[in-house]
Amino acid sequence: MRVGIYQFAPEFGDIESNLNKAEAALSQLEADLMVLPELFSTGYLFESREELKRLAEEIPGGRTTRALEAIARKKGMGIVAGMAEYDPQQDKYFNSAVVLGPSGYLGKYRKIHLFYKEKKWFAPGDLGYQVFEIKGAKVGVMICFDWFFPEAARVLALSGAQVVCQPANLVLPWCQQAMITRSLENNIICVTANRVGREVRDEEDLGFTGQSQVVDVGGVLRFRLGDQDEASAVIEVDPARAIDKSINVHNQLFNDRRPEWYQNIIKS
Ligand code: ACM
Repeated sequence: MRVGIYQFAPEFGDIESNLNKAEAALSQLEADLMVLPELFSTGYLFESREELKRLAEEIPGGRTTRALEAIARKKGMGIVAGMAEYDPQQDKYFNSAVVLGPSGYLGKYRKIHLFYKEKKWFAPGDLGYQVFEIKGAKVGVMICFDWFFPEAARVLALSGAQVVCQPANLVLPWCQQAMITRSLENNIICVTANRVGREVRDEEDLGFTGQSQVVDVGGVLRFRLGDQDEASAVIEVDPARAIDKSINVHNQLFNDRRPEWYQNIIKS
């Protein structure tokens, strides 16, 4: 399976230009699964509810989902992309990722662990950690700050995810290294698509750290992009290698867990 990342600096509020940029990048790549950054079509730092209302879209049905769906079908690829979602049923906004396969819309993930001022605008995700089938591989999704909670990757791996896609807008310096451990401790492939550039809005000045990467099973870093450049990469991986969880003849990652001693983890 050819998995890829595209990192760029979205222009805040300019969905048209961000979509065009992503479309141009994806149309040049041959991949089975591409991951785009968190909130790739809107930018990150919202300043008002009105702004969020203007830029968030329904999933599916909104313009960003439709545009990505057209690319996924045309290129025969899966796409996982972060975007701002409006749910009219609940009248809530979510920091979401849309999941598309080569034949169209598969589903969405709504970010569960919200970071910093995201809590002002978005509701915490209410759909859980789900696994989607894309081109024969089991694909799980988490978004950015979910990395800080190892339960996210663990739950996805226990649900069968072989590849975990992570759209990101990282501002802290540790995630890229931490994802190597998430891969090692779950024997999964971790694909992080982070953005680059800065945003100065809402009395904040945030620099995003790029270094989008693909970590293969066993915590093997296969590729990491630079911290500033707009770039893409596609790497061949074998998701079947994520099925066997044995560490050696005596140890197996999942069978050796002792959940009877982990009860504090599931207390609220
Ligand atoms: C983040 O979750 N965007 C840091």
